[in-house]
Amino acid sequence: MLNLGILISGRGSNMEAILKTIKRKKIPINAAIVISNNPDARGLGVARKFGVNTAVIDSKNFKGSRKEFDEKIISILKKNKVTPKNGLVCLAGFMRILSPEFVKKYKNKIVNIHPALLPAFPGLDAQKQAIEYGAKYSGCTVHFVDSGVDTGPIILQKTVKILDDDTEETLAKRILVKEHQAYSEAVQLFAENKIKMIGRNVKIS
Ligand code: GRF
Repeated sequence: MLNLGILISGRGSNMEAILKTIKRKKIPINAAIVISNNPDARGLGVARKFGVNTAVIDSKNFKGSRKEFDEKIISILKKNKVTPKNGLVCLAGFMRILSPEFVKKYKNKIVNIHPALLPAFPGLDAQKQAIEYGAKYSGCTVHFVDSGVDTGPIILQKTVKILDDDTEETLAKRILVKEHQAYSEAVQLFAENKIKMIGRNVKIS
């Protein structure tokens, strides 16, 4: 069985949706560890309620380099058996860029959720970007993490219509509902070994 590590920084609602789905649908993946770079992340308490191990590496008070910070994360992942061979790492609102070393070591084993239809509106404030641009649709994307910002191969996407009176908040709220579905589906596909890569094209069987 695959071992799952989830990295969070705050609310952790995507993490919560994934943990709920694993439990409800008995998905064959072991939720091994939740790691936060923020000791006050709400998601930590939620993870504990699900009986999942948690760890904190406080990035604010961390003295070393990005590489050293990520080495700490990797050592916690490994201790919990989330290895490049036998693990999946989900970034769920994890507000840090990963070091190239981490990305390379866990190639095609780290996934992220982004609140827009990539490659449109990467980076921060994706919902605001979509509204300001005047897009008629946005949504969310689950993608592999590569060395760029939100540039990795796309696993799945869900769309949301942008309404004339949408604000950043109202749009974000509707996208979040789709994020929870998309991320849970993606984790299930991984657990069932249904994701194959052909170049940067992800095929779902
Ligand atoms: C989500 O909108 C996600 O797409 C973005 O950060 C937010 C995290 O929310 N990367 P949560 O912590 O999962 O509730």
